[in-house]
Amino acid sequence: MLDLGAGAGALTAAVARLLPEGVNLQVTCVEMDADLLPHLGRTLAGLDHEIIHGDALSLAARGMLREDHDVVVMNPPYGKLAASSEERRAMAQLGVDVPNIYAAFMAIGYLHLRQGGQMAAIVPRSWTNGPYCKRFREHMLAHVSLDRIQAFASRSALFSEAKVLQENVIVTCTRSREQGEVELIFDDAEPRRVPFEGIVHPRDAERFVRIPTGRERELPGAPLGALGLRVSTGKVVDFRAREHLAEPGNDTYPMIYQGNIHAGRVVWPRDIGKAQGFRCAPDEFRKFLVPPGACVVVKRFSAKEEKRRVVAAVHEATTHVAYDNKTNVFPCPDRDVAVGLAYWLNSTAVDDHFRAFSGHTQVNVTDLRTMPYPSLEQLRLLGSGRDAAMPDQAVIDAVVEHLL
Ligand SMILES: C[S@@+](CC[C@H](N)C(=O)[O-])C[C@H]1O[C@@H](n2cnc3c(N)ncnc32)[C@H](O)[C@@H]1O
Repeated sequence: MLDLGAGAGALTAAVARLLPEGVNLQVTCVEMDADLLPHLGRTLAGLDHEIIHGDALSLAARGMLREDHDVVVMNPPYGKLAASSEERRAMAQLGVDVPNIYAAFMAIGYLHLRQGGQMAAIVPRSWTNGPYCKRFREHMLAHVSLDRIQAFASRSALFSEAKVLQENVIVTCTRSREQGEVELIFDDAEPRRVPFEGIVHPRDAERFVRIPTGRERELPGAPLGALGLRVSTGKVVDFRAREHLAEPGNDTYPMIYQGNIHAGRVVWPRDIGKAQGFRCAPDEFRKFLVPPGACVVVKRFSAKEEKRRVVAAVHEATTHVAYDNKTNVFPCPDRDVAVGLAYWLNSTAVDDHFRAFSGHTQVNVTDLRTMPYPSLEQLRLLGSGRDAAMPDQAVIDAVVEHLL
């Protein structure tokens, strides 16, 4: 067995305790922190073991680890890897592009399994979706079959990686075995076995790894591009655009933050402790501003107390508007489409669908683009004659119901 980032050896100790009679454990523990080595040594006393003091990434890149382990276990460190970092280059030597250190550990883990060997990793859920881990997902799914994913609903831990709350999973996978059903285990739903196609959709170019609880409903519709609509993240990074921010006045445009989404609509101006005006020269319009018209604005980071992950509101703008980069914006062809789209996005059905593939509170544009949507005509009918402010959840769900 290989224990990557072994710390004081907690995972190895757990495996040793659960080992069936007659099975001999031979373990290699890799740990970078010299201070932990005495503790690790004490935990491993009495076990057939080897301790390698060093950086798992560079050890792997230099071919210093055996590639025929039966089992790999890990509870890796978190943290981003800059594109130009030495670590990222080391991983490129192994043939995989990883955006963070825990994904690097996962790749090292399964690359050092024999055919048929199994890995268990306690990791954040963020590798399962989002654009950054796409190449990692492709690499992983080409090398291992997924056996089991255990998801934890608790979002109490704060990970430094992205300063967002995210869920953890324990993922178990086998090297080079034909992919069968995947076992899903939840702390708030019954365990289930799901065909692989229900986890990674065959036609999904993003290779999202979904973790459906079984409660979500099949959503009809097509991805956003099929409607001719687009969504993008707001273009203003407020701390980089200080000279543009101002009190609202004759020479400014509305500046919308996620804090301006309030009680089911966009409230502007609103006292949220942030400048509500944006000033820029005509030649900078394209860089910063969205032209007048009806838009749907979605929060990129939902707060813990928010019931839904996807929080959307309509903004009917009569001038150009600046949107903060913590919002995602869908420009719409008309007001009715915008209202219909906001109902759709705010529905419980969409929220359940979203939770099946997103374990963190961040709502990425890639997530929004790949979700299913009703047709433009259906959205227009949905929004027609309705107030742009979102009503109670029960009313939203009742309105959306006939489309499901
Ligand atoms: C989250 S702790 C887990 C420790 C132990 N496996 C457990 O579950 O209690 C991650 C461990 O990885 C070690 N570590 C961090 N970066 C490492 C690297 N590049 N190579 C090897 N070990 C590393 C840390 O020192 C730490 O002990």
